[in-house]
Order: sequence, then structure tokens, then C-alpha cells
Amino acid sequence: MPAYVVTWIHLLAVITFIGGWLFFLLAVRPSLLEGKAKTPSKEALEMAQKMGQRFKTVGWVSLIVLVFTGASQLLDESGSARIETSWGLIMMLKLFVFAIVGGLIFVHDLILDPYGAIGKSQRAETQPLLFAGKVVWVQRSIVMLSLLVLGIAVYLSSL
Ligand code: HEM
Repeated sequence: MPAYVVTWIHLLAVITFIGGWLFFLLAVRPSLLEGKAKTPSKEALEMAQKMGQRFKTVGWVSLIVLVFTGASQLLDESGSARIETSWGLIMMLKLFVFAIVGGLIFVHDLILDPYGAIGKSQRAETQPLLFAGKVVWVQRSIVMLSLLVLGIAVYLSSL
């Protein structure tokens, strides 16, 4: 497969992954709480649950595509002089931060699972897990670190 097609698929996975997480953090989450409501309505929660469950699959597929297209691009680089320069070191930093993002996604989707928990909570009285501090901070960290990986990648492509 031509290298530009692999890069295109790599960037498509980046757009889907980071775009999806930003949409949840900046659009879905704030619109769950209307006006002064401290807890979202049952309907709003159910909608968030459906979207969260569906994006869980989209997110994991994007991550797997990132790893495969990234590895393919790395293989293209293997043996090139560039890998022995600061480029190689910064690429390792990119992969290190990406690994942390992967770990946080694992914790978010498989341990905390805030969208899976919605069905089980008593809804009206208890604050859904989705709004628990630990979930908010894991989601924010995933977005911030993914944007950092993007920044490192863009810097790398300028080298
Ligand atoms: C959130 C995760 C990731 C983001 C945001 C990201 C972003 C990018 C971007 C923007 C480019 C530049 C495309 C270009 O203009 O040439 C790129 C290239 C590349 N990425 Fe990623 N990437 C991610 C994950 C990965 C992973 C997991 C790997 C390795 C397994 C990887 C390896 C590469 C390689 C080898 C290149 C080509 C570098 C070059 O030719 O300069 N990326 N990535």
C-alpha cells in the first residue's frame, strides 16, 4: 500500500479518535446538565449511554488502526539514518505518551466504564459515575495527552 495512503489512514484514525473525545468533553458532557440541574435527566443519560457505548467501539478501532498504520510507517523508517537522530528519540517519546493514553483508555472503558454503569445506577438520586471526579479527570487526561501526541507528531514531521 503506498505510504501516502497509510499516512492518510493514520490521520483519519487520529481525527476520529481525538475528534470523538473532544466532542464528548466539549459538547455531550456540558449539554447533559440543562440549566441549574445538578443531575441530568433520565432521557439525557440514556442518550449519553448509547453514544458512549457506540464510541467505545469506534475509539478502540481507531487506536488499533493507529498502531498498525504507525508500525507500518515505522517499518518504512527502519534502517533509515533518521531513526538514529533526535527524530528517533522524539518518536519514542511520542510512543511513550501514546502508551499512557492507551492505558488510560483501558482504565476508562474497562474498569471505570462510566457509560456501562448508567443503566445500573438509581439515576434520579445518585450522581451518575459519568460525573464522578475520577472519570472527569481520566477523560480530560486522555484528551490532553492525545493532543500532546499530536503536537509531537506534527513537530516530528517538520524535522
Ligand atoms: C494519538 C495517537 C497518534 C497521533 C495523534 C498521531 C499523529 C500523527 C501525525 C499528525 C503524523 C504526521 C503525518 C505526516 O504529516 O507525515 C504521524 C505520523 C507518524 N506516526 Fe503517528 N500518531 C499517533 C499514533 C502513532 C502510533 C501508535 C505510532 C507507532 C506505532 C505512530 C507512528 C507514526 C509514524 C512512524 C509516522 C510517520 C512519521 C514521519 O514520517 O514523520 N503514530 N502521526
